Amino acid sequence: MRTMSRFGLFLVIALAVGAFAPAAGAPPVKSAPTPLPMADPKAVEPPKLQILAPAEGAVLPEGKVLVIGRSPLEGKRIDLLVDGSFSGKDTVDRGGFSGVVTLPSGKSTIGVRSGGQESSITVTVGANPDYVRHPALEKCSGCHSASDKTFKIAVPKDKMCYRCHQRKDKRKAVHGPLGAGECTACHDSHGSSHKSLTVAEPLTLCALCHDQKSSEQHLRNSKGKPCIQCHDPHASDKPYHQK
Ligand code: HEC
Ligand code: HEC
Ligand code: HEC
Ligand code: HEC
Ligand code: HEC
Repeated sequence: MRTMSRFGLFLVIALAVGAFAPAAGAPPVKSAPTPLPMADPKAVEPPKLQILAPAEGAVLPEGKVLVIGRSPLEGKRIDLLVDGSFSGKDTVDRGGFSGVVTLPSGKSTIGVRSGGQESSITVTVGANPDYVRHPALEKCSGCHSASDKTFKIAVPKDKMCYRCHQRKDKRKAVHGPLGAGECTACHDSHGSSHKSLTVAEPLTLCALCHDQKSSEQHLRNSKGKPCIQCHDPHASDKPYHQK
């Protein structure tokens, strides 16, 4: 349990200094994977108009892009804007909205406006797109049941993922967040600019939760190598989740 409380302390400190905030376009790390003496950051944040997909800073292929977002203004009209110009509309339904816009090449902003609130992201349409959408993203009901009252996902979230993906917890040692069903602590299930739809690039991803400075020796030994070269992010039969 010693590790656990150090981890808890780190989380609290990291939240206090806002260490989780800057991950580009990534959703904040959700409730801690194991019970910790802290509030879910989302619970204290007032809900706001927000674009969830594509991600801030994404490099997209030419053509149409599916925009997904959330809004607290249920039933209100949403205007989709490209570089400030009207490009489509939707109505907030069950806390969410979506729409398709066409982007010019180069840098542009995708904006949303509803009931006096506004929010936007900056993306680039370029030759080497990095943004990958989760397959069948446009079929919302593949993940969000049409009968659900909101787009919020019930906890544990892995139940939804395991409808289509093989279970990842059938090994001796299951990694903390995976065991807690928090697939989305690491994956953005709408889409991502990082390999395997992760919410951050490999090195930053692990550092969202692990204080690497606390293990100088380990870092010296592994320096420069991606963490997942040696560790399995999901589960393993070896100690320390080694591959
Ligand atoms: C592959 C599965 C998947 C598909 C397909 C999908 N979503 Fe989601 N969506 C999720 C998951 C998982 C979350 C929760 C993320 C979290 O909170 O960590 C989510 C969250 C959301 C939210 C935010 C809810 C909230 O307020 O917390 C909205 C809105 C949303 N999705 C809308 C859509 C729409 C609209 C579509 C179709 C155009 C769609 N999603 C397709 C998996 C999916
Ligand atoms: C309706 C079925 C369905 C659901 C539900 C679903 N997925 Fe997927 N997912 C797929 C398919 C199909 C693929 C593409 C084939 C593959 O890589 O398995 C995919 C691909 C992925 C990939 C990329 C794999 C790679 O190799 O790059 C990740 C990561 C992923 N899904 C995570 C999730 C997570 C996390 C959830 C739950 C929040 C989820 N998926 C829910 C069908 C689904
Ligand atoms: C601690 C972070 C983390 C958690 C939690 C996590 N993943 Fe992953 N996942 C990763 C990383 C990192 C990769 C890329 C692995 C690689 O490239 O070797 C990955 C790869 C994947 C892939 C593609 C390759 C494969 O192994 O099939 C799928 C699908 C996937 N994850 C689904 C899930 C599901 C479903 C959950 C929840 C049950 C989950 N992940 C929880 C970090 C995580
Ligand atoms: C969402 C938070 C979160 C993320 C992201 C995360 N971890 Fe973890 N990790 C945990 C928790 C919680 C534990 C279990 C508590 C502990 O032992 O510190 C854990 C445990 C571990 C352990 C075992 C530690 C031990 O003493 O047995 C290893 C190794 C590990 N993680 C590696 C990684 C790697 C590599 C990544 C990036 C792919 C990663 N973690 C990303 C939360 C996270
Ligand atoms: C070259 C292989 C290798 C790489 C790369 C690596 N690790 Fe490890 N890691 C290990 C081994 C082996 C252990 C077992 C204990 C030890 O020898 O320190 C371990 C232990 C751990 C532990 C548990 C003990 C501790 O020191 O807290 C965590 C957490 C961890 N690694 C996280 C990470 C993260 C995060 C990264 C990426 C920054 C990473 N590891 C990169 C091999 C590696």
